[in-house]
Formats: sequence, structure tokens, C-alpha cells
Amino acid sequence: MSLVSINFAYIVSAALFIFGLKMLSSPSTARRGNLLSALGMLLAIVATLLASGLSYGWIILGMGIGTVIGLVTAYKVEMTQMPEMVALFNGFGGISSLLLAWAEYHQYPQMSTFIAIVAFLSAFIGGVTFTGSMVAFGKLSGKISQKAVVFKGQHLINGAILVTAVIAAALFAVSPATGWGYTLFILIVLVALGFGVTSTLPIGGADMPVVISLLNSYSGLAACAAGFVISNNILIVAGALVGASGIILTRIMCKAMNRSLANVLFSGFGSAVKATEGDGPQGEVRPASAEDVYYILEAADSVAFVPGYGLAVAQAQHVTKELGDLLEANDTEVVYAIHPVAGRMPGHMNVLLAEANVPYDQLVEMDDINPRMDSIDVCVVIGANDVVNPAAIEDENSPIYGMPIIETFKAKTVIVLKRSMNPGFAGIQNALFFRPNTRMYFGDAKASIQALIAEFKDAD
Ligand code: TAP
Repeated sequence: MSLVSINFAYIVSAALFIFGLKMLSSPSTARRGNLLSALGMLLAIVATLLASGLSYGWIILGMGIGTVIGLVTAYKVEMTQMPEMVALFNGFGGISSLLLAWAEYHQYPQMSTFIAIVAFLSAFIGGVTFTGSMVAFGKLSGKISQKAVVFKGQHLINGAILVTAVIAAALFAVSPATGWGYTLFILIVLVALGFGVTSTLPIGGADMPVVISLLNSYSGLAACAAGFVISNNILIVAGALVGASGIILTRIMCKAMNRSLANVLFSGFGSAVKATEGDGPQGEVRPASAEDVYYILEAADSVAFVPGYGLAVAQAQHVTKELGDLLEANDTEVVYAIHPVAGRMPGHMNVLLAEANVPYDQLVEMDDINPRMDSIDVCVVIGANDVVNPAAIEDENSPIYGMPIIETFKAKTVIVLKRSMNPGFAGIQNALFFRPNTRMYFGDAKASIQALIAEFKDAD
């Protein structure tokens, strides 16, 4: 295949990636967007394989092993383990860029200064992404402690590591082909691998989704640099797209938590002792039984479900949809209010509700539901806590002050489904639970909703 045809195929692939990404921004087009991007990748791979001078034996072996591992893990992974899987994928992307730069340098050590710089970037960012992602995977899967490992002089050590990397890179870029060149390259690789560990360990397990999104961006940047090293246009474009979209997603997540990226990376959030009973707001709690909640729901004209992390833990998405259908059959208007960082990964609630076939037009974003919250009869909070905590608006001393929330407390009645009075991710008590218009319906969310469904069916 001629270079012109390959580059033409690359342009078509790049267009498919961009349209695919655009379609990912809405739940109704996301599946097609994913397919379109996958098609773009297939085209890019086929076009690349048609270039001359390739050793197909090794490529087929690699593709075979990769396909088997990818398929088995994709089928086995639970939805709640998705961030772990993405962490692994990012890590593999990073190590590929590192190895690619290494192989290129090994083969053609007489590289220009520009290529030496991009080879450094590819190896360094790739190395950081690899070990950083492995630590993130370990924390999320509980294989290593989720605690933020913070020690004295940590920033100094990380700073020293970075300075070493920059000096080594400068010396390497000046004369990559000298005797020292190889030693410097190995030093860069070792420093990168070490930096990935030392920069990720101080971040608490609960902040890992943000870190994973950032590492995703790094893996794109490493791939982009690798694209320059081997002069492959589609690798440059795809890497840049991943790099840019990863950083945008990281920003969205930080904004929705009202925290700066620096706060996520350096504050050791999540290492603090969690609130215990007696901390934070206090007051009278009004527990409700399944029967009580049934009567409240049965009389409601409008109900907004507000799902959170507990819905994912309880796997209550299907029963929630079933309850929603029963309410609609009872002439109640039903919507599902989605907070951008409810759960533990971006789009967590959208994915779960889509799995239960909740129609997209019933999903309402936080900014659309809040202005009409006082007209909602009942808000049913299912395993959500921080994202409905009024302290974010009312208590300047709260760690979540300033975080946008779904203002459920403004609804006429709020029913909160959770197992206990325990706090959520931020480790703080929630004043919503003590409000006069709130009823606490304790229990596992799935079992609690099943009991409500039984009440509705018995009444028929
Ligand atoms: P959380 O504030 O973490 O609260 C979840 C609640 O679910 C807990 O209070 C827990 O109470 C309850 N729960 C757990 N298992 C349950 C079960 N089986 N049945 C019923 N309830 C159950 O969750 P949220 O409101 O979704 O907020 C998300 C938090 O994660 C935010 O602070 C956000 O900043 C943070 N975060 C999110 C992301 C993304 S991208 N989504 C990334 C990083 C951090 P009990 O133990 O009493 O049941």
C-alpha cells in the first residue's frame, strides 16, 4: 500500500475518532460513538499492517495474546471494577510507548535532537504512566493499602527526581549516540518508573478515579510523542486526542468535586480519619418502614430518584427501574437526577441506569433538576450521600463546601435509602438526614426497593 493511501486511511480514522468522541458526550449516541471510534482504530491498524517491511509472525503472536487477555478480562470484569481495568489499560499504553521509544533508540541511536527529545518524552511519560497506573490498580483493587502514603520530604524527593530526569534528558538530547547516551536513557527509564510510584502513592484510594483519568491523559501524550519518534501520523493524532480528552475529563471531575487538581494530587485527601458517630450535624432521625414509604410514594405526583455509589454497591439499578415503572403506571412523573460525580467513576450512574434500560429522556442533569426541585413531591435518594449534602452550600467549614450538589433538601419530601448513618466518600455526616422533610429508609438499597415493589404489587 502506498504512503499516500496509508495517510488517506489515517485521515479517515482520525475523523472517525473525532466524531466518535463527540457522540460519547450523550448517553443516547454513546454506543454508536464507541463503535465508530473502534471502526477508526480497525482502519488505522489495517492500514498500518499494509505498510511494507513488517515481520507479521511477531505481530500476529502479539495480537493473538492481547485479544485473548482483552476478551477474557472484558467479559469477567464487574461494572464497579471498571476503573481498575481502565488503570491497567492506561498502564499498558504507557509501557508500549516506553518500549517503542527504546526499540527505536536501540535501532537508530544516531537520532536528531528533536527525535531524542520526543523519545525522552515517550519513554518518561510512558514509564510514569505504567508504574503510576499499576499503583492505581493496586489501590483500587485493594491489593495495596488504599491510604494516602504521605511522608516528610515527599515533595522534595519528587522534585529531585524530576530535576534528575530533566538533566538526564538534556544531556541525552545533545548526544544520544555517544557511549553515555545509552546509560542516560536507562537512567531516564528508571527515574520514570520510580516517579510513577512516588507520585501516585501519596494519593488516597478514593481519589484514584481522578488519577486514572489523568494517567489516561498521560498515556495519550506518551503515545503522541511515540508517534513523532516513529513518524506515524495516526499515533500522533490518536495520542493527542486521548491526551486532551483525558485532561478535560480530569478537569470536569475536579470541578464537580470543587477541588483543584493540585489538591487531589498533593493533599493526601482520604488519609484523614473518617467521621464517627457524634461528629458533624446531629438531630432527630425519622426512620420509615417499607409501608410508610409506599404510602408517601403512592400519593406523589412527581418523584425524582437520586442514585449514588450505594446503588452501584447494591446493584439496585434494575429494581429501581421496576419501581419507576410502577410509579408511572400510577400516573406519577418519574425522573432520575444524575450528579456528575455520583458513584466512583465518570458516568457511573448513567451506565448503571442504561443497563437497566431507563429511557434517556428520564435522565435529568443536576443543573436542570435543581431549579425545579421545590416542585418535586418526593426525592428518593438511593445510596447517595455527599452529592446531596447541604453542607456543600451551607457550611463554609465543610470539606465539601462549594461542591455543586443535587438540592434534594428543597423537595417536599426526601426519602433516603442507605444501610446506616455512616458517612460516604468524604467521611462527613450529612445534615440532610436530620431535616424535618427527610425520612430515613434503612437497609440494603436493593432489598429496600424490592420491599416497596412488593407493597405496590400487594396493593393491586
Ligand atoms: P457517597 O457519598 O460515597 O455515599 C454512598 C452511600 O451509599 C454511603 O453513605 C453508604 O451508606 C451508601 N451505601 C453503600 N452501600 C449501600 C447499599 N448496599 N445499600 C444502600 N446504601 C448503600 O456516594 P455519592 O453520594 O455517590 O458521592 C460520590 C462521592 O465520591 C463524592 O464525594 C465524589 O466527590 C466522590 N468521587 C467520585 C468520583 C466519580 S468520578 N464519580 C471520583 C472520585 C471521587 P451506608 O454505608 O450507610 O449504607
